[in-house]
Amino acid sequence: MIALARPQYGEENPNAWKPAGPGDLRGPCPMMNTLANHGFIQRDGRNITRETAIAGLNAGLNFAESLATIMFDQALVANPEPNSTFFTLDMLNRHNVLEHDASLSRADSIFASPSNVNTSTANAFNATVFAETTSYWTSDTLTPLMLANSKLARQITSRKENPEYAFSTTTEEFSLGEVAAPIIAFGSLEDGTVSRELVTYFFENERLPEELGWTKKNQSIALTEITGVTTIIRAATNLFTGGAANGTSAHTGAKRSLHGF
Ligand code: HEM
Ligand SMILES: [Mg+2]
Repeated sequence: MIALARPQYGEENPNAWKPAGPGDLRGPCPMMNTLANHGFIQRDGRNITRETAIAGLNAGLNFAESLATIMFDQALVANPEPNSTFFTLDMLNRHNVLEHDASLSRADSIFASPSNVNTSTANAFNATVFAETTSYWTSDTLTPLMLANSKLARQITSRKENPEYAFSTTTEEFSLGEVAAPIIAFGSLEDGTVSRELVTYFFENERLPEELGWTKKNQSIALTEITGVTTIIRAATNLFTGGAANGTSAHTGAKRSLHGF
């Protein structure tokens, strides 16, 4: 390690981890915060353009340009200015734009003080919320079922405690991607498992788990890989216990025709 650290040549690793300093912007996304903490995107969290998002997601996680472009374009809505060409990590905090209730590691924005709603303070890592999530992560290797269980639990808790709880079909789609995300960055794209140690380290420190032996994937990650893992997670969120998926009872058939599908 010391031999690789190259300070003797006067070169600092430009992607060494450093937490946000005063004035740096952060948001609700543990990975964008992480990429900023490593300097893969701007350390100050400002002026994230298509070019810098593509470069950062590629250098940090080996995301393909095509995938990073889609993600960037979807995120531009976070900037309240129409036709803008950048966003900041702070803009990602705007509630019910991209940020939503029932996050795995953040409290719902209703629980923030009024002056803090839509800020990184409201959407900072929250140990109490994350403890609920990790209580469903019951083995060293996380399975899609454990990850799905933790998300469903967060949704139920928020629905119970938050009188303004909102969770739309769009939120559902984003959430499936977010639950899949730790698998994509740190786990197996084939079976959807991932080391609990790597994932908890990442959430708690907003740092890539290099010191635990993680390295970025050799394989370039494109939309196909995301869709594959998201499909595994979607299946794992289903609350049925298996058996005849289409139902064998007259009741099931009647209900389906009633709803027209
Ligand atoms: C352009 C790139 C990205 C943008 C704009 C973005 C934006 C966001 C936003 C707005 C949230 C908050 C949703 C909520 O309320 O929970 C979020 C959550 C999340 N993001 Fe990202 N994200 C990006 C890339 C990534 C990548 C590459 C990963 C990992 C591979 C990732 C992992 C996550 C995870 C795990 C969460 C859920 C956090 C939680 O539930 O507590 N994101 N992201
Ligand atoms: Mg949230």
